[in-house]
Amino acid sequence: MPAKVIIGLQWGDEGKGKISYLLSRNADCVVRFQGGANAGHTVVLPDRKLKFNMLPAGSAAGAKPCIASGVVLDPAEVIEEVDLLRSIGIEPELMISGAANVVLKLHKRLDGMIEELRGGKAVGTTRRGIGPTYSDKALRTGIRVEDLLDKKALREKLEILERVHGIKVEELDELVKVGRLIAKYVGDVEIYLNDLLDSGAEVIFEGAQGTLLDIDHGTYPYVTSSNTIAGAACTGCGVGPTRIDEVIGVMKAYSTRVGAGVFPTELHGELADRIREIGGEYGTTTGRPRRVGWLDIPLLRYAVKISNVSWIAMTKLDVLTGLKKLKICKEYVVDDEVVKIVHPSVKKLEKVKPNYVEVDGWDIDQGDWRKLAERGWESFPPEAKNYVELVERLLGVPVKLVSVGPEAGMEVWR
Ligand code: IMP
Repeated sequence: MPAKVIIGLQWGDEGKGKISYLLSRNADCVVRFQGGANAGHTVVLPDRKLKFNMLPAGSAAGAKPCIASGVVLDPAEVIEEVDLLRSIGIEPELMISGAANVVLKLHKRLDGMIEELRGGKAVGTTRRGIGPTYSDKALRTGIRVEDLLDKKALREKLEILERVHGIKVEELDELVKVGRLIAKYVGDVEIYLNDLLDSGAEVIFEGAQGTLLDIDHGTYPYVTSSNTIAGAACTGCGVGPTRIDEVIGVMKAYSTRVGAGVFPTELHGELADRIREIGGEYGTTTGRPRRVGWLDIPLLRYAVKISNVSWIAMTKLDVLTGLKKLKICKEYVVDDEVVKIVHPSVKKLEKVKPNYVEVDGWDIDQGDWRKLAERGWESFPPEAKNYVELVERLLGVPVKLVSVGPEAGMEVWR
């Protein structure tokens, strides 16, 4: 299967970094197609933990990294992450699309200012300048990567930006400097990827954030500023939809969300604290504590449907170890009616009442998961298998991969 898209099925932080790393071990190329340095993809190696904000996490597996035009680029992060790869002995043959828009300091400032102006209705952004950069792109006042390589054109574009925002932009020299540093990576990613797919090579499209943060299909306005669903791989990279062979939906064994917005199955108190601590549920990019909750099948059904997910990778099953009873929201009740699937519009979600199914938990030593992962699926506690199989039945999509720890090897294929 040469073209595989990996996406998150929840509110991001599903563990896409690990899954991309695993799948990229057999791939020729791995591509970021949307979002920017708001993403935090982690790869845990036996002796090190690598955090990627800009480069695809799959590049740690040695696949050629690409950054396509749908991404908003933070050039300083790129340079740091190239060094990170070098530190593990990989000299990346990185290719960045000249058409990707660049996040400026101005955009980060605006991100913070707009959040303050929203007051109690702040989105809770990562303040990485993502929204303002995509806004300038849509306004056609954005700065593209290719502009960094042409000082005269860049100066003119920055002057327009100054007039549009009414803010002085004093970044010209810095941008020219960073442009020189990344110039060797700039190329026609879109043409390259299509040629690569023509040759039968395997390409992984590494999505960032999650379906419920999609600007059109998420819990707007508490969303990010890009499309995060599988179709975004096509628009973000200039590859036709018929190119995509498989869509892999990554979901955590429970729900989390950072930032504000509706969360029907949210947990509070001791249970929430326990899951947060065991799961290390603190933002990779911002360090913020994540909100946690039970699995939400109606929202997952929506996520699976709109990306036509081929199979699911479920992560962090180990985190639920030791809980006597587990709940899964199998449907909602809205105005006395049972609802199995829902569009995540905030107006609709504010009215839903989750209907839970309760199942038995399992209790083993956390340290046993490594051994069980080596032995395979059949060795898992029956209640853990039951939990995964129930999710599979409720969603009607196979859960082919179950991850029980951050490192590669701490997972089983089913
Ligand atoms: P922005 O993408 O920084 O504008 O933030 C918008 C919303 O998306 C906020 O709720 C963020 O917490 C959330 N968000 C952005 N990127 C990620 C991510 O990679 N994981 C989880 N949440 C994210």
